[in-house]
Amino acid sequence: MSALPKGFLSEALNRIQPSPTIAASQKARDLIAAGRNVISLSVGEPDHDTPENIKEAAIAAIRRGETKYTAVEGIPELRKAIALKFKRENGLDYAPAQTFVSPGGKAIVFNALMATLNPGDEAIVPAPYWVSYPDIVLLAGGTPVMPKTRIEDGFKLRAEALARAITPKTKWLILNQPCNPTGACYTEDELKALGEVLLKHPHVWVLTDDMYEHLIYEGFRFHTIAAVVPQLYERTVTMNGVSKAYAMTGWRIGYCGAPEPLIKAMSKLQSQSASNASSISQWASVEALTGPQDFIPKFQKIFEERRDLVVSMLNQAKGIECPKPEGAFYVYPSIAELIGKTAPSGKTLATDEDFVTELLESEGVAAVHGAAFGLSPFFRVSYATSTELLEEACRRIQRFCAELR
Ligand SMILES: Cc1ncc(COP(=O)(O)O)c(C=O)c1O
Repeated sequence: MSALPKGFLSEALNRIQPSPTIAASQKARDLIAAGRNVISLSVGEPDHDTPENIKEAAIAAIRRGETKYTAVEGIPELRKAIALKFKRENGLDYAPAQTFVSPGGKAIVFNALMATLNPGDEAIVPAPYWVSYPDIVLLAGGTPVMPKTRIEDGFKLRAEALARAITPKTKWLILNQPCNPTGACYTEDELKALGEVLLKHPHVWVLTDDMYEHLIYEGFRFHTIAAVVPQLYERTVTMNGVSKAYAMTGWRIGYCGAPEPLIKAMSKLQSQSASNASSISQWASVEALTGPQDFIPKFQKIFEERRDLVVSMLNQAKGIECPKPEGAFYVYPSIAELIGKTAPSGKTLATDEDFVTELLESEGVAAVHGAAFGLSPFFRVSYATSTELLEEACRRIQRFCAELR
């Protein structure tokens, strides 16, 4: 394969990295395909299938001939369903014209940031963060500002830390809860405290990524910031999607509610990129949002049991401290006590990347290192896999930790 001519790739592309979580999942898949006994705890998607009624809606849409371009912003039926969802589940009033549909939640973040960031603009991205935020900010020409949260605070951004991170150049606060990678979710009071800071800085907008809203446990109640602090509604993008709640990661539908002028700006951008999300997936999403919701508590129960299992077993591993998060399907254990130890292979574990590399090599367990999410020394475990595999993976992690010297 011949190399590309020097300077051929754009400067924007050179500012970013390939997604480390996608890379970790691919590496695990490659090793499995090559015959290695690997358990992947690196996946970012539910392990169950899309519910049958949603699949049927897609098939019916194909049969009806809903196979053409749609409006850039999304089909009116889906925009109406999104507006109803925001009202029903979040108490938020968005008219259909204030909603927008993109090919995946990631594309909503991409459109919102590309449509608004200029060189020098800052976006606050609390660490640890979902890997794509800083890189999308960089791609859009902005500067990510990444205040670190603390395990003692349940990895939640404190009001004082937010106040310190805001400058005259701040354009966005990107808030994600339940959080990927920590599972942390904010209480109403914690959101109010952040809101009080934001009210003092009217130039700062909020992009809230509520993708894991329905994956929440032990009766914890989910709140979104524009509902808790209504004065922020005029400068908030409330982002969500069907990927995680409805096990529809491959269908590629994300959506948001936002002030109409911003929706128009995002629409202008999408009209020159993806045009519209898949017509068939949009019809499937109408069914997801308006059809029966009874499988959501069933999935919640399964995930809650797995979370409890993983937290308990990881806390029994020597040198690991694993907090119990409120939601999503991730835990983010600390390996501070293990840094500097030596693996049976003779390799010293200087970083969390060394830890996950050695864990994969010696025990065949794939996880993602904390540095990928901007906070070390930790690693992310996804428990979106069967209980049997989780038990086996945690036993292997316990054995690996016990063998470190
Ligand atoms: C926090 C968060 N937001 C957004 C997304 C992207 O969702 P989608 O697959 O709909 O693009 C993910 C996927 O991993 C995520 O973890």
